[in-house]
Amino acid sequence: MALRLGDIAPDFEQDSSEGRIRFHQWLGDSWGVLFSHPADFTPVCTTELGLTAKLKDEFAKRNVKAIALSVDPVESHLGWIQDINETQGCQVNFPILADADRKVSELYDMIHPNANETLTVRSLFVIDPNKKVRLIITYPASTGRNFNEILRVIDSLQLTDKHSVATPGNWQQGEDVVIVPSLKDEEVIKQKFPKGYKAIRPYLRMTPQPDKQQ
Ligand code: BEZ
Repeated sequence: MALRLGDIAPDFEQDSSEGRIRFHQWLGDSWGVLFSHPADFTPVCTTELGLTAKLKDEFAKRNVKAIALSVDPVESHLGWIQDINETQGCQVNFPILADADRKVSELYDMIHPNANETLTVRSLFVIDPNKKVRLIITYPASTGRNFNEILRVIDSLQLTDKHSVATPGNWQQGEDVVIVPSLKDEEVIKQKFPKGYKAIRPYLRMTPQPDKQQ
């Protein structure tokens, strides 16, 4: 059965460009972004891996480890990484799983046979420190992902895990957020949101982002 939000991310052991990886052990207490690519030496994937490498500090700030996957062997990955570094002006600083036996691709349902019989689509999973799957996105091979959007979702997850809020559409760091509808007690709301809030409707209550200085 396909993975769903809230499921424990399946553990695995697989080769990678940085040696053998035992996934849960490798994740440790970090958040994780596991994302698949159709194949090595393909143009869109090359740009995606370059972008991920350049966002190293942004991932680190959020305690996130990135790990890519492609169904080619380690030797191919090592050659490709040289190309990525050269063409994208970066240093690939995260492992690429060498899933030639498709063990991980099958475990995470990354091969969609009606799209392509053998290659993975662009699947992406965000996994929290409890190893729970918190975001699943699937893009077609022809469309590169927006890694700023991945960071935005991670910001939202980390914020909403700590405070009784949710983030509105197109929300960006520092913008107002909504108070979760399940929170009804006026006194509790005042205590939790000392910066105040605006009730546009009883169910739509906006408040400044709780962890930001005003
Ligand atoms: C690419 O990564 O560039 C790509 C891979 C498969 C199909 C189309 C593009």
